[in-house]
Amino acid sequence: MSDRYQAFTSSPIGQLLVKNLGLPDPPRLERYTEGDPLVRGTVAVGGTGRLSESLPALLDTLGVASSVVPGQPSEGELFKGLVFDATGLTDSSRLGALQDFFTPKLRGLETNPRVVVLGTPPEQVKGAERVAQRALEGFTRSLGKEIGHGGTVQLVHVADGAEGAVTSTLAFLLSPKSAYVSGQVVRVGAHGVTEAVRVDDWTRPLVGKVALVTGASRGIGAAIARTLHRDGATVVGVDVPQLADDLQTLMKELGGDWIALDITTKDAPQRIAHHLREKHGGVDVVVHNAGITRDKKLANMSEDRFEQVIAVNLTAPERITRELLDQGVVHDNGRIVGVASIAGIAGNVGQTNYATSKAGVIGLVDSLADELDNGITINAVAPGFIITQMTAAVPFATREIGQRLNAMSQGGLPVDVAETIAWYASPGSTAVNGNVVRVCGQMMMGA
Ligand SMILES: NC(=O)c1ccc[n+]([C@@H]2O[C@H](COP(=O)([O-])OP(=O)(O)OC[C@H]3O[C@@H](n4cnc5c(N)ncnc54)[C@H](O)[C@@H]3O)[C@@H](O)[C@H]2O)c1
Repeated sequence: MSDRYQAFTSSPIGQLLVKNLGLPDPPRLERYTEGDPLVRGTVAVGGTGRLSESLPALLDTLGVASSVVPGQPSEGELFKGLVFDATGLTDSSRLGALQDFFTPKLRGLETNPRVVVLGTPPEQVKGAERVAQRALEGFTRSLGKEIGHGGTVQLVHVADGAEGAVTSTLAFLLSPKSAYVSGQVVRVGAHGVTEAVRVDDWTRPLVGKVALVTGASRGIGAAIARTLHRDGATVVGVDVPQLADDLQTLMKELGGDWIALDITTKDAPQRIAHHLREKHGGVDVVVHNAGITRDKKLANMSEDRFEQVIAVNLTAPERITRELLDQGVVHDNGRIVGVASIAGIAGNVGQTNYATSKAGVIGLVDSLADELDNGITINAVAPGFIITQMTAAVPFATREIGQRLNAMSQGGLPVDVAETIAWYASPGSTAVNGNVVRVCGQMMMGA
């Protein structure tokens, strides 16, 4: 399941062909290894607004070195990250401040740089300020496509009153944990900010927490289980009885627990709720990862292919979420995470069933985000092309196109989805609610 094209382009002859023929040249993406610092290098901070004064101290709590560099950096100074507070841009005549800050620094970036622009949610402001804040989206999405060298660029909309709740989001977006996330607009709202939980240990924020992960025996689900375990959680994995052996082996390795069941069975929500309450006293993180594809063009689609996909990918997460909430099994400050897909945003040939189910997952986030209280949040990830057994089944030509049509010219890894979910799951992410973040290397499709 490795990316043979990427391996080829790293060879001397591959590099020669890439240069002469103008072929895609996938950069090597750095991933986070346990024990590493969040940022290997210095982050330059600039801009003026609601966050600028507190940014250096906030980065310091994460062990991230920063320096305020409004314009030209000193000779030879290199940056691993750039953070710009754009919340003070109240009309379009001030947008040039973006260029003043970024242009002099872009040639002095280390590889895999991280760029974050902090803005105000446009719907919270009016008139000229709304125009200027909306404009930031075009800037960040374009810079994401230009930056290269495995760099990522995001816009974070920080609601009024949520200035103190951005730490977990910056920890994720400035670190290699967000290797395959770029061109995204993330919302940090005022949701549950009064209950925002202090995180004492940013390396193991989930100590003492219980996390349910469906479809945990392989692929993205196994990576989610490993990552939440790394962050300190006790993981309860769920998968179909046919994969019970694989599930048990992984959960034993992680010191976790398992439930072998088909999530579409009538009593699955009750059995899961009962198990979590009786054995673990409830649950803190629920990740609806289990999913299937049954691709066919709609003209040739049988009823059961359509219905099976909706049942696994959408109805089961809806029913399980409802049961866990109704029975009060989800603890205060709990986290519910859906796994959608780019297909649910952009649509895809042969996937009317799958795209319907995944757009429905986004609907589930929308419908519950405002309803949840006690600091409970719901968010989703929308993976693009992730290299797993599911995508290994995609025909060669489609797979090649799927992997190259993004700003990183490569497919993502299961861990990229898992790290995004671990950010949502952090107790520090109470203000991150109602988001659908694409883990797609800024795929051109549906962007
Ligand atoms: N791989 C990608 O590129 C990609 C892209 C977008 C979204 N996704 C989504 O990510 C999730 C994981 O995908 P993956 O690539 O790891 O797939 P996978 O097929 O490797 O793993 C899916 C897991 O879900 C389990 N599962 C399926 N039906 C179940 C049921 N009824 N009850 C319990 N468990 C069940 C499977 O047994 C399997 O372990 C899915 O929701 C998928 O739609 C994947």
